Amino acid sequence: MAQMMVRDVVCVGDVVVDATLGNGHDALFLAGLVGDDGRVLGFDVQEAAVESSGKRLLGGGVDEDRFEFRCVGHERMREFVDGGVKAVMFNLGYLPSADKSVITQVGTTLEALEVASSLLEKGGVMTVMCYPGHEGGDVEAEAVVEWAKKLERKEWRVVRYGFLNAPNDPPFLVGFEKLS
Ligand SMILES: C[S@@+](CC[C@H](N)C(=O)[O-])C[C@H]1O[C@@H](n2cnc3c(N)ncnc32)[C@H](O)[C@@H]1O
Repeated sequence: MAQMMVRDVVCVGDVVVDATLGNGHDALFLAGLVGDDGRVLGFDVQEAAVESSGKRLLGGGVDEDRFEFRCVGHERMREFVDGGVKAVMFNLGYLPSADKSVITQVGTTLEALEVASSLLEKGGVMTVMCYPGHEGGDVEAEAVVEWAKKLERKEWRVVRYGFLNAPNDPPFLVGFEKLS
């Protein structure tokens, strides 16, 4: 569903952000949308994630000058992104294949949402996958929802997608469309 929202608005030549690189699956998806003239900027606090994402894109035939990945927290993305961003994807929580103690944190996640929302251009989208099922994830997911509820209705369309018949606090998506 996150990919559908992003695919709907992103065009060849756009600048997009993967705010939680992990193993680079979202980054590779984004690179496929923006094409040779676009750019994918990516952030993760784990060097291994930055490396593995870079390898995934190169292995997928993406030229190295089409992406720029940094081992830096997403809350600092303004230092590296000027604005004019068409999509930002967040996939919160931890990387299942890596150190599960390295996890997104409510404070920095909210900071990053503020920054990312200001960098998005009109018509751009932001997707945030929330995982309330792990320790601390419930507080973070709730904070994302509360932050989203406060956005001005004339400026943002915000949706929440989730499973109705899955057990144990299943993940859900909060999707943001910048209207003005
Ligand atoms: C669920 S994984 C992301 C999966 C990834 N999107 C993919 O397609 O493989 C969450 C990632 O967020 C990273 N992370 C944790 N805190 C972060 C922060 N402050 N800024 C950026 N990334 C962070 C973790 O290191 C982890 O790799």
